[in-house]
Amino acid sequence: MSVSVILLLLCIFFIVFQLRPKRPKNFPPGPAPLPILGNILHLSLRNPLKDLERLKKSYGNVYSLFFGPNPVVFIHGVKAMKEAMVTRATDFAGRPQDLFINDLAKRKGVVMIDHGPNWREHRRFALMTMRNFGMGKRSMEDRIHDEIEYTMKTLEKSIGKTLSPQMMFHHASSNIINQVLYGTRFEYDDTFMTETIRCFTEIAKITNGPWAMLYDTFPFIRKLPLPFRKGFENVETLRFLLLGLLNEHKKTRVPGEPQDLVECYLDEMDKRPDDPLFSDEQLNRFAADLHFAGTDTTSNTLLTGFLYLMNYPHIQERCQQEIDKVLEGKDRACFDDRHNMPYMQAVIHEVQRVSNTVPLSVFHCTTKDTQLAGYSIPKGTTIIQNLTSVHNEEGQWKYPHEFNPENFLNDQGEFVKPDAFMPFSAGPRMCLGEGLARMELFLIMVTLLRKFDFIWPEDAGKPDFTPVYGITLSPRPYRMKVQLRSSA
Ligand code: HEM
Ligand SMILES: *[C@@H]1O[C@H](CO)[C@@H](O)[C@H](O)[C@H]1NC(C)=O
Repeated sequence: MSVSVILLLLCIFFIVFQLRPKRPKNFPPGPAPLPILGNILHLSLRNPLKDLERLKKSYGNVYSLFFGPNPVVFIHGVKAMKEAMVTRATDFAGRPQDLFINDLAKRKGVVMIDHGPNWREHRRFALMTMRNFGMGKRSMEDRIHDEIEYTMKTLEKSIGKTLSPQMMFHHASSNIINQVLYGTRFEYDDTFMTETIRCFTEIAKITNGPWAMLYDTFPFIRKLPLPFRKGFENVETLRFLLLGLLNEHKKTRVPGEPQDLVECYLDEMDKRPDDPLFSDEQLNRFAADLHFAGTDTTSNTLLTGFLYLMNYPHIQERCQQEIDKVLEGKDRACFDDRHNMPYMQAVIHEVQRVSNTVPLSVFHCTTKDTQLAGYSIPKGTTIIQNLTSVHNEEGQWKYPHEFNPENFLNDQGEFVKPDAFMPFSAGPRMCLGEGLARMELFLIMVTLLRKFDFIWPEDAGKPDFTPVYGITLSPRPYRMKVQLRSSA
């Protein structure tokens, strides 16, 4: 009797031991995983951040965790980040392909697709098109300035009062992307506008929540009618909305005379009729990706920027003095003016540093067996970059833990960009909207600061700078008081 019990226990022990995921040889260290669950119990589903911080303290800048049976490597600090993303570039340029977000994206688009010809062709197309802006007469700057006019109107209506800027900035960055993609803007209450915002917000919330984490960890629950289904419904709604818009373009466009990115894409499809990579379905996902990637990112950075500028009024004032001097006699700012505005440049970069708008970048994946920080990492391993860790890293910044534009100024007051500045990540997968985003941040901030003073309302209490956690970080909702500048 007791012998058979012991044998049975031994058997169970042996099976459990066998099922336990094992770290490959010389893999980055981390806590011991459990069978099936991996390290999921090491993280609280509600606030995993605290636990991850603790793990980094025990295991160092490159450590690993198991999500279910799959190992994931976390990278911190500028040294490891550069080694992976820049030195070993292609080795780390993949995207994991078995996650909730891949199923949502249906393996199309550009942001989530793996390293390979489809990604390369679409990335190249997007960069080329946005760089040369071979889209009719209106330049990128014109399109941004057009939208700023509407932001100014919203602000003018609130002069002497307070307003909540969330929707204002969201609409502005959304419409700038719309101008680039579709050559048109949408009124704030247009169904396209309200529905895309609703879908994107819900998708972001689900992707970031506990259900997506469970979906990623336990493949057997994927077909069940659980709350993550809502994500797929939203993707369908979005696809349908875009389909209508794209079909309109097909009817109205003049081939060879594209006015926007979508029409450039349609021209590209004409040029390569037999290329399966450029297709209607792919265009639909591609447009959705650029829209999604370019909206919350920019607007949350702006929100953080104005939160700080209101609470550091002497910094706001110094920006305004520089703007007045450089723009004297001109009716509007252009992106090239940045070269004469070192202080403004420093402030915008400092805003991006403290915002950490995309704190964990987008997940990467190794494309072959490789090395990092002396460890071996097999092909197909998920890589999570902690960009915040670089922006707060001691030894990389004059003032790592405070808001201070001096982080980007040298002794002569000239603008300098330290190596550890990487809000857009680095390497072959680096944000492809960087150029557009930087132009938006500069033109919007300069134009608004030239005309208005932004004041933290007297009754607003102490500001809370701790961000709300998400795929993108945003400040807690706040109100701003707006005044016309006396000198303007
Ligand atoms: C302040 C604004 C923005 C920030 C902070 C930001 C940040 C990022 C980051 C961290 C990544 C991940 C890079 C990586 O995986 O290593 C990324 C990717 C991407 N971003 Fe942005 N982004 C911003 C604005 C934009 C805009 C305006 C667009 C639209 C044109 C855009 C389009 C993309 C795309 C398409 C990718 C995927 C690139 C790829 O996988 O090859 N982003 N962005
Ligand atoms: C990223 O790094 C920062 C700073 O080191 C830390 O506070 C945060 O918890 C880390 N996040 C993750 C997800 O590891």
